[in-house]
Amino acid sequence: MRKAKAEAHQKRITVVSNSPGETQRLGMWVGRHLRPGDVVCLKGEMGSGKTLFTRGIATGVGVPQGRGVRSPTFTLVHEYVGQYPMYHLDLYRIQGEEELEGIGWEEYLYGAGITVIEAAEKMMEVRLPEDRLDIVLERDGVRRRRLTLVGHGRHFESLVTALVKQHQ
Ligand SMILES: Nc1ncnc2c1ncn2[C@@H]1O[C@H](COP(=O)(O)OP(=O)(O)OP(=O)(O)O)[C@@H](O)[C@H]1O
Ligand SMILES: [Mg+2]
Repeated sequence: MRKAKAEAHQKRITVVSNSPGETQRLGMWVGRHLRPGDVVCLKGEMGSGKTLFTRGIATGVGVPQGRGVRSPTFTLVHEYVGQYPMYHLDLYRIQGEEELEGIGWEEYLYGAGITVIEAAEKMMEVRLPEDRLDIVLERDGVRRRRLTLVGHGRHFESLVTALVKQHQ
């Protein structure tokens, strides 16, 4: 019984995006399904669409001018307010994990807001919450991207399951 229930949830889906707009719309869908305290980790090479996806999430979370979301250039973190507080961390430029201490990373990751982390691979995995949504973005041509979403924990597994249903 238990097993059947677990199998009813899917952990992983790969979605192909054929334009920046499609990537943003997928982000928006994800944003609409997030709850306070949720963490989304984005990984992928430069130009794979992490910031664009984050902009979509912000719009989905209800951040006015979600479109204004861009890479935090000089600051590691940008804070927005939508339906819930949203934190956008871009770890691309961090030199070492000490910099994370400087911004009080735990309050973002384990607080009541929604946290989106770009270049999450720069952070030790043990610091990330077990329940989270991991997304890997890959370039596949000028306008094509492959986005693989992996849900960890019940809430994110059901989110992925809902997305799988939409793509059936
Ligand atoms: N299908 C697509 N999805 C997302 N972006 C696309 C797509 N096709 C083309 N692009 C272009 O790729 C670029 C993605 O830029 P974006 O800043 O989101 O990437 P990034 O992963 O955040 O890069 P960085 O590592 O520099 O932070 C944009 O210029 C966008 O127009
Ligand atoms: Mg970026």
